[in-house]
Order: sequence, then C-alpha cells, then structure tokens
Amino acid sequence: MSIIKELEREYIRKHVKSRALYERALRCYPSGVTHDARYAEPFPIYMVRADGTRKWDVDGNEYIDYVMGHGALLFGYNDERLREAINNVLSNIHMGSCTELEIEWAEMIKKLVPNAKDGFVRACACGGEAIEMAVRLARIHTGRDKIVIHEGCYHGKWEEINCGHNGPPYGHCNIRGIPKSVRDNVVIIPYNKPDILKRVFAEGDVACILLQGNAPYTREYMEEIRELTIEYGVVFLLDEVVSGFRYAPGGAQEYYGVIPDITVLGKIVGGGAPIGAICGSKDLLQYYEFRDEYWNRFVRISLGGTWNAQPLCISAGLETLRIIDRERDRIYPRLYEICDRLTESIRKNAEELGLAVTVAGTPPERPMVFIQPRFDPNADPKASYAYYLSMTNEGICLFDKRRFVPCAKHSNEDLKRTDDAVRKSLEILKDGDLVPTVKSTAPP
Ligand SMILES: Cc1ncc(COP(=O)(O)O)c(C=O)c1O
Repeated sequence: MSIIKELEREYIRKHVKSRALYERALRCYPSGVTHDARYAEPFPIYMVRADGTRKWDVDGNEYIDYVMGHGALLFGYNDERLREAINNVLSNIHMGSCTELEIEWAEMIKKLVPNAKDGFVRACACGGEAIEMAVRLARIHTGRDKIVIHEGCYHGKWEEINCGHNGPPYGHCNIRGIPKSVRDNVVIIPYNKPDILKRVFAEGDVACILLQGNAPYTREYMEEIRELTIEYGVVFLLDEVVSGFRYAPGGAQEYYGVIPDITVLGKIVGGGAPIGAICGSKDLLQYYEFRDEYWNRFVRISLGGTWNAQPLCISAGLETLRIIDRERDRIYPRLYEICDRLTESIRKNAEELGLAVTVAGTPPERPMVFIQPRFDPNADPKASYAYYLSMTNEGICLFDKRRFVPCAKHSNEDLKRTDDAVRKSLEILKDGDLVPTVKSTAPP
C-alpha cells in the first residue's frame, strides 16, 4: 500500500464521527465548509472544545492547536481573563449606545499602535470592512481612484482588493464577478521592487498603497515606500490584521520602524471576537466628523454598522490589549522563542534527514506567523497532502493544512510533541520518496 493510502487509512480510522458530520455538511454548504482554509481532503476535522493550546475533536482526539482562531488569539483558548471580561458584558450584550468601554479600548490602541498615538480610531465588524473604509478615506483625501496592492496579498474578501490574491497570473485568477471597471482601479505589483512602484506612482491617480503587514517585504522596501508615498502624496495603508500585536505590541510598524498613514486592525484587537478597526491621523479620519450642513451633506462619509464597537468584542479586545501592555516584557520574548523553535524544528529535521525542504513564514528574517515547510519544486504534488494527513494523525492542528500560527502560551511540552510530529511527518515524506533528498537535487 502506498504511504498516502496508509496515512489516509489512519486518518479515516481516527475520525469516524468527523467523516459522518462532513457528509451532513455537504448537504448544507458548498463543499461542506464555511471558510476556504477549513476545507480539507478527505474531509475536515470537526472540533468540539478548546482550552489553552489544546483542542478536542468529535472523536475524542486531542490536538496541539496552531490555528488560534485564525490568528485572533494571542493567549490560547478559554483564557480566564478574557472569559471574565466577556462574562461581565453578557447581560448588556448590545445596547447600541456609546459606552465607556469603547473609549478605553481606543485609548489602549492609541497607547500601543504608533500611528494611532495622536490620531483617531474607528471600529467596525471585520478586517475586510476596515480595509474598505481605509481605502475610501484615502480616495477622499487625495481625490484619486487607484489602489496599489502586492501580488498574492490577502486583505479580505472585498472584491476590489481580492482580485490580486490568487495567481500567477495575478489579477486573472478567481476574478469572475468583479466588474472590469472595478479591476481597472487596482494596480497589482510584485514585492520589493521600488522601481516598479515609482513608475506606477509617477503615472498618477494613485490614492493609496496597501501593504499586508505579514507579507515578505524587506525593511528597505518598507522604508522606500514611506519615502515615495510622501513624495507622490499617496496614502500609505498598512494592513495589520495579522501582524498587529503579534510582530510587536505596536505591530509590523513597530517591528520595521516604519509608520503608515492608516493602520487597519482586526483579529487580536477583538480578543477572538469579530472585529475590525482603522486608526490614523486626525487629518485623514476627519471625514467621519459631523460639522456644518455643507460638510455633512457633501464631504463627510456617512457610516453606520450594527456591529461597530459591539461590547463583546470590545471587552475581549480591551482585556487582550491591557494584558499586552502590562506583560509585554514577558509575552514577546517568549512568543519569539516559540516561533524560533518551530522554525528550527522544520529546518533541523529536514537537514538531518537530507530533505530538500526549507522553512517559510513571515516576516522572512524571523518568522512569527504562518511558519511552514516549503517543499522543493521537484517534490511530489502529494507531499503537502501527506504532510497534512500525518500531522493531523499525530495530533497537530494546523492552520490551512500546513501553517503554524503560534500563541504566547505554547509550552515546552507542546513544542517537544510538535517537533516529534514534524520529525515523523518528514520521515514519512522521505520513506515515500515524496520530497527529493538534498543530494539528488544538487547539480551534478
Ligand atoms: C492580512 C489580512 N487582512 C485582512 C483580513 C480580513 O479580515 P477579516 O477576515 O476579519 O475580514 C485577513 C483575514 O484573514 C487577513 O489575514
């Protein structure tokens, strides 16, 4: 029996109830799932409970989790401090009124995020919605239409910025239903090529450039973008939905030392509950202000949102930010150590086994999120599938079937068990001849 068949057999044997649920789900949802990243062959695993860094599925299997609520959780599941904060607002679940909590939440953002310090904040329902708000502000502010984004970056499912996500060729894949008039406003450029960016800016009509904080930009490129945006009067939007409060308390902008005009937040800023936010200079966010009749009718952006500053999200987010602020000297060194150990686990095991496997993740110089093995281009197309099956069978729950999203609570025991699973999975890839060995890929 082939290695893949053996792995599948074990997966099916261990997950009988998940398989049955998937068959039900197939009658409810297209391909049975509610998020692309949760789709898996031969079927996804259905979870029932999570605590700390562990999750349990319907069949009673335990996992060390590296999904962390799509990156929304920095302190693992069921953190008692967050639970208490959420419990405190349950009886006033959504009053649809202003609250002191929302002020405290914005004050903490202003304290932690460098570009919010002297500016304003605005809350919304999710990261993608915050991106949409930020782009509109940039357009009003500059009187221009075009958005510049980078190949492959993900900024949510809003059609305008989603058209650069899949490729190559970028701008052509998965774009059906996005009108050409919308796509014409989007310029998709490669990473780390300042000359191309300069040319695009010089052509004119660029309102903003949007960067995904957790993409592999070089520090020099970030610095050049900052200079070029000032030179050409383009608004610099930094999407910190993933990198925010993860790369550093102040996100990628603190990590790189490059301050954008508008920061987009999501995930951690809601402590695991649905949220999005933007923050930036008062000059830019002034378009939400109420003023005289002319301004209110013709200039300002009118903006509602049932879920804006919803108390559950605000209280969980506020508690998360307070913990970050209070315990940053303990949290971040440990988080970096965990990320280094996960990176090293893949690198070292691959090297010892002589496999043509490297480590990817962001930021490239010190992966802190989406840490994953990268297989040699000559690897069997089924290598990733075998890796997913093996890691799941070994009790490791990965994000999008291949990536580690760590949290500050992963213990040394978690890391040891993860290292054992990585070792075993890479050995299986080697035994099954699914990834070339370093020797066989070397030039003659
Ligand atoms: C970098 C980035 N930006 C934006 C988003 C969209 O956020 P949301 O799913 O809250 O709309 C995501 C979601 O994963 C993301 O990873």
